Amino acid sequence: MPAPGTNAPRTIAPRTIAIDGPAASGKGTLARRLADHYGLAYLDTGSLYRAVGMAVLAGGGDPADPVAAEQAARTLDPASLGDPLLKSAAAGEAASKVAVHPGVRAALLDFQRRVAASPQGAVLDGRDIGTVVLPEAEAKLFVTASLEARAARRVAELLARGEAADAEAMTRALAERDARDAGRDAAPMARAPDAALLDTSNLSIDEAFAAAKMLIESRTARP
Ligand code: CDP
Repeated sequence: MPAPGTNAPRTIAPRTIAIDGPAASGKGTLARRLADHYGLAYLDTGSLYRAVGMAVLAGGGDPADPVAAEQAARTLDPASLGDPLLKSAAAGEAASKVAVHPGVRAALLDFQRRVAASPQGAVLDGRDIGTVVLPEAEAKLFVTASLEARAARRVAELLARGEAADAEAMTRALAERDARDAGRDAAPMARAPDAALLDTSNLSIDEAFAAAKMLIESRTARP
């Protein structure tokens, strides 16, 4: 350990943490725990896209229709973000379809940046937080896990909520969603060059949290 007064890094709790990664990588659980730990607000940005997707479906529209999707994003009621239906597999599918439209992404951008700019500071998780929403975030993580581990987690989550789920179908659905999220033109899912990579395939929640905290604190050290 360097002696005091030399170049010893001083760790200061970050005010903004950007967490990106594919579906069921564990980023939501991690983001919530980090927000609690550092006393920051937490925004699950996926819930915005899920709410837009569900609003389009509820109005009888098609999430692939850019006009209907943008209209739903512009009139999104933040009160709808707590709806438990947003956690359903159908909402996840609809979310990734509305998320390809640049007009939808633009309509949701200000809200996300306002949360991050609150005096309390915030953790945001999603697909484009470190790259587009908060390129200046003080700490960035890209959280990933093998497709098999992610499918097993998502199946367990759905079964626990009483939804039907099958591992093979889930593996296919996640692979399809990864491809759509990473392959779209508008703000594709990507690891920011300055984001630390965390693979949670073989980590418990506590282990993932400890690893994330270490990565964050080593990168938020300021002179
Ligand atoms: O929980 P899960 O990882 O399955 O998904 P989510 O984070 O709730 O996001 C649902 C979908 O919204 C993703 O598949 C993305 O298509 C989209 N999304 C996005 O495009 N950008 C974000 N910042 C967050 C979510």
